[in-house]
Amino acid sequence: MNKAGKRTREPLGDVLVIIPTYNEADNVEPIVSRVRAAVPEAHILIADDNSPDGTGKIADELAAADEHVHVLHRKGKEGLGAAYLAGFRWGTDHGYDVLVEMDADGSHQPEQLPRLLTALTGADLVLGSRWVPGGRVENWPAYRKLLSQGGSTYSRLLLGIPLRDVTGGYRAFRAATLKGLDLDQVASQGYCFQVDLAYRAVQAGFHVVEVPITFVERERGDSKMSRDIVVEALWRVTAWGATSRFRRLTGRRHT
Ligand code: GDD
Ligand code: MN
Repeated sequence: MNKAGKRTREPLGDVLVIIPTYNEADNVEPIVSRVRAAVPEAHILIADDNSPDGTGKIADELAAADEHVHVLHRKGKEGLGAAYLAGFRWGTDHGYDVLVEMDADGSHQPEQLPRLLTALTGADLVLGSRWVPGGRVENWPAYRKLLSQGGSTYSRLLLGIPLRDVTGGYRAFRAATLKGLDLDQVASQGYCFQVDLAYRAVQAGFHVVEVPITFVERERGDSKMSRDIVVEALWRVTAWGATSRFRRLTGRRHT
């Protein structure tokens, strides 16, 4: 049990793996078949932002051939955060008990998902972590490693959250945890969405566990990481940190 509720140690129930896509035409079929093989009972939701390269159409074909595969078509590119929020809403509306975040490009190995799900039997949220002992990254240029480790360290120190990989995108949430995070208030658009949700989960008193993963850099297609995404993360994390310090100084409690 934990501060936020009595959710830990309840059986997991139905699992939905949400995979956001933007121009992942060469990756969508391989990732779907790897997830299907690794966790056959799970369902998959592709959340596509009307990719110009036709990813959405390929996803529709996969869904037509397999009742475990679903597609959420979105109007246009609105960022990773917005795609996940829509995916979470779809998943909870359809009664799934566990919502998994996974990149489409194979960086988050579906074969490691059973490990995350096992950890979730004793937690409210599990983070696949590159920066705990046993976790690692394959084939990343030095600047990406620095950006990721620097981003995690900055967030950990400024926000006071005891997590090593705060920006990672391989995660398993209980539906009950998501319902406790006030998702209507989430404004993060890019990858800082991941920091946002981890911070909210810790603040809400949920039991967050990190499990080591091996992150493998993509072989096909391009990363959507951009300067705008880094700038958004930097200003938002700094603003959250400043707000929480100010509240502490003035004796006001966290909201
Ligand atoms: N629908 C949608 N809309 N999907 C998107 C968008 C968007 O605007 N932007 C990115 N994606 C999808 C990509 O198609 C991919 O499946 C996944 O989100 C991750 O995007 P990548 O571009 O491959 O991210 P990365 O490898 O550079 O970044 C990784 O590290 C970040 C920092 O640690 C990911 O693991 C991120 O989740 C993580 O935050
Ligand atoms: Mn990637």
